[in-house]
Amino acid sequence: MSNNIEGKIVVITGASSGLGEATARHLSSLGAGVVLAARRIDRLETLAGEVNSKGGRALAIATDVTNCSQVKSLVDRAVQAFGRIDVMINNAGLMPLSPLERLKIDDWDRMIDVNIKGVLYGIAAALPYMKQQKSGHIINVSSVAGHKIRQGGAVYSATKHAVRALSEGLRMEVKPYNIRTTIISPGAVATELPDSISEPDIAEIMRKVYESAVPADSFARAVVFAMSQPDNMDVNEILFRPTLQEF
Ligand SMILES: NC(=O)c1ccc[n+]([C@@H]2O[C@H](COP(=O)([O-])OP(=O)(O)OC[C@H]3O[C@@H](n4cnc5c(N)ncnc54)[C@H](OP(=O)(O)O)[C@@H]3O)[C@@H](O)[C@H]2O)c1
Repeated sequence: MSNNIEGKIVVITGASSGLGEATARHLSSLGAGVVLAARRIDRLETLAGEVNSKGGRALAIATDVTNCSQVKSLVDRAVQAFGRIDVMINNAGLMPLSPLERLKIDDWDRMIDVNIKGVLYGIAAALPYMKQQKSGHIINVSSVAGHKIRQGGAVYSATKHAVRALSEGLRMEVKPYNIRTTIISPGAVATELPDSISEPDIAEIMRKVYESAVPADSFARAVVFAMSQPDNMDVNEILFRPTLQEF
């Protein structure tokens, strides 16, 4: 029986580390072709080389998701190379937490640009192809912070709530085109994400939260679950946490 993953072409933003990298490895081991996007091209090329040397199919494309034309070009090149796009995983993100009163306005802008606009640009790039194909799957990465707010996390939570709102609007709109939509909302997963926190006191609080973090493959398995359902089954949201995580 088909796993509904083999042969699919999957574009993954934020594939140079953490959840995106783990997902690229996992999906390619199940027979998917993966198109890897992020800014650190050296890391993407190493990963693509590893996948290709094991008989998989991977393409690395340097992409800044805050640049709409770069994201469009990413998906155009994926389709040129592989003939189609089956899954778009809008995963790139950052989490420089801080209390609002510290006015870290550059961080607010970066989170809005990457976590919200980057997801929108991914949708804009993939949707025309998926509409034409009358099939496709858009997976957007939110967070437990897309459901709950903690002190110091107002802007990050706002961006992750926005991802869920956009995804639910998208879900309803793409019914005529046979496109599936999934939100994945992880709790603490061991990645480089906490490194984006520059405030030492907040970094210390999050270091404790991340003591119970689960490995990045936990996210990849959630992607596999959503992708591997029969085509008429649309998994709209997966929320998972480490068993020990209270928040
Ligand atoms: N880890 C967790 O506990 C957790 C929990 C909930 C949600 N999430 C979400 O999961 C997603 C992935 O994060 P992660 O945990 O895997 O963290 P990570 O290891 O820091 O990975 C973040 C990825 O995003 C990419 N990225 C950042 N800015 C970018 C930009 N402007 N253009 C293109 N790519 C960009 C980074 O690549 P480059 O720097 O090479 O561009 C990197 O590949 C994020 O949306 C995050 O909010 C994570």
